[in-house]
Amino acid sequence: MKKYKRHLITAALPYANGPVHIGHLAGVYIPGDIYSRYLRLKGEDIIYVCGSDEHGVPITIKARQDGVSPQQIVDQYHQMNKDSFQDFGIEFDIYHRTSDPTHHETASGFFKTLYEREEFIEKESEQYYDPEAKQFLADRYITGTCPKCSYDKAYGDQCEQCGSSLAATDLINPKSSISGSKPVLKKTKHWYLPLEKYEGFLKKWILEENKHWKSNVYGQCKSWLDGGLEARAVTRDLNWGIPVPVEGAEGKVLYVWFDAPIGYISATKDLTDKWEDYWKKDDTRLIHFIGKDNIVFHCIIFPAMLKAEGSYVLPENVPANEFLNLEGDKISTSRNWAVWLHEYLEEFIDKQDVLRYVLCANAPEAKDNDFTWKDFQARNNNELVAILGNFVNRTLVLTHKYFGGTVPQASEANEYDLKVLNSISGYRDRVEGHLDHFRFREALKEAMNLARLGNKHLADSEPWKVIKTDTERVKSILYTSLQITANLAALIEPFLPFSSEKLSGFLNMGKVDWKDIGQPDLLKVGHVIAQPELLFEKIEDETIQIQLDKLEKSKKMNEMAESGIPDAKGEISYDEFSKMDIRIARILSAERVPKTDKLIKMELDTGIDKRTVISGIAEHYKPEDLPGKLVTILANLAPRKIRGIESHGMVLLAEDSSGKLIFVSPVDKTGEGSVVL
Ligand code: MF3
Ligand code: ZN
Repeated sequence: MKKYKRHLITAALPYANGPVHIGHLAGVYIPGDIYSRYLRLKGEDIIYVCGSDEHGVPITIKARQDGVSPQQIVDQYHQMNKDSFQDFGIEFDIYHRTSDPTHHETASGFFKTLYEREEFIEKESEQYYDPEAKQFLADRYITGTCPKCSYDKAYGDQCEQCGSSLAATDLINPKSSISGSKPVLKKTKHWYLPLEKYEGFLKKWILEENKHWKSNVYGQCKSWLDGGLEARAVTRDLNWGIPVPVEGAEGKVLYVWFDAPIGYISATKDLTDKWEDYWKKDDTRLIHFIGKDNIVFHCIIFPAMLKAEGSYVLPENVPANEFLNLEGDKISTSRNWAVWLHEYLEEFIDKQDVLRYVLCANAPEAKDNDFTWKDFQARNNNELVAILGNFVNRTLVLTHKYFGGTVPQASEANEYDLKVLNSISGYRDRVEGHLDHFRFREALKEAMNLARLGNKHLADSEPWKVIKTDTERVKSILYTSLQITANLAALIEPFLPFSSEKLSGFLNMGKVDWKDIGQPDLLKVGHVIAQPELLFEKIEDETIQIQLDKLEKSKKMNEMAESGIPDAKGEISYDEFSKMDIRIARILSAERVPKTDKLIKMELDTGIDKRTVISGIAEHYKPEDLPGKLVTILANLAPRKIRGIESHGMVLLAEDSSGKLIFVSPVDKTGEGSVVL
């Protein structure tokens, strides 16, 4: 392999429109963190960069849903996710964000460079437009039926059911997700990166020179390349993002997948003055940690962009993972089917490493994998507690009991002790071999094997029996156990950094360099260790049941949502309620609003006045049936003009799951003007 001077490790920038969950951690951030910690321990020149992806349609949709600005959304989740990563010991050198001015400049400059070099194709095309919202419907603003699998909630850019990447015009029965209305086609101009121009280069670079990539990654790239590449639009009609920095592009922004990967460069710029060394010297090793849905962007599109620009390095590897499911179901933010990192830490205080362990041991490296709470409990109780924790605890407790916490002299080391001590460096070598090939599950297993060896050596040697007859022999046994413990503290650091630190504390020991792992005398004779505590605690059934109940609740809520019954709304105060003037009114007359399908105009007698109200009930009631009926109205709703007619208040209606609307009317006899309390 080529000799590299420095490593630039990136982890996919998570969208700042929701909290991060175990799927993110298992797929991207834990492997990236283990790898970075490992390189740091080896004394390599390495930086690990990440940040929030703050542009794109999903963020504007979330903002619209929550009734706040996109900036408020990204501010909230940027901070939250940054904190979550830090809490879990994900040691980024910088956690940047794409709303940062450095990023705007960098991405904008990148676009300009390609634009000036005429690397883009300018093209007019017809795109969907929402005439009601007066807005083009980029990507996720449009939903419809997938032409490939008939899933009826496919997005304008992708179907989440079958994974196909789509164009909005492919969708059957397209619908605007802003207004729900049927979109119309309208001409608009965009800039395209002609990917077909890079096909030759990409084929050679990936298919011939990058045969060492993981087979899931290589395979996906191959199928994209075999299918032939087409020009991709790198701009969008949207008002949230980085403005397209050329004339005639008002109201247009860079496509989020154009700007986001440039975020890795921006982050590096804000981290160090030497950023160009990391990005432009070809003895840099660039590694992208991502999930499988990001493969095409990191292996094909971003490299094509970098190649077009010309001065940047390309990734040496892209060890993408598959997906993690939860209790047999796809993790989903909208269905609240996830284990959120911030919630986990509220319930499992100081148990970051347990989750890190389980997610690594069970990482979806080669295929999708399942996280279950039972497996979480079992791995904690049967592996962390019973193997690692137990070995460490026995060693430390016996050292205190027999030798007052002092590392004893091993004058009677037998062959078994020596064999064990000599084998430690082999564990390091094997862990290293796995890590060098991004086999994190195997690497962790091998690190745990050292604890298994320690346990076996202790159990076979039975110091608690031998102590009755041969103290010298016990000194050698425990000397061996103590050296294994010290080596373990170092060997587990990339995987379980909190436990490594704790264990080093128990041993009164500083940080050990990776290359020193394997030394049979990390702890010197006479060294005094601290009072031990438990490294891991058993997790009881009740604790797990709480988590299962929580998921059960999500499942119920989802079933309710699917049955059409809307979720309960948040609590309001009595004051808020009492602001509403709700009263009974009598319909005096009613007529259809011309040229509309749904609207009826009514004259109402409210008891205090007579007024006009427009209501969308024409599909449910005939105007001639209405006069004389008593209805309930919200009388103090601010007047609104609907189709040129001012509507004063709103008639309250009940909607059943089929969408049928009926008036909310008093059951018992009352008259107009009665007030609802
Ligand atoms: N936000 C994207 C996602 O969550 C990942 C962006 S990675 C980057 O799928 F390279 F574009 F930054
Ligand atoms: Zn589909």
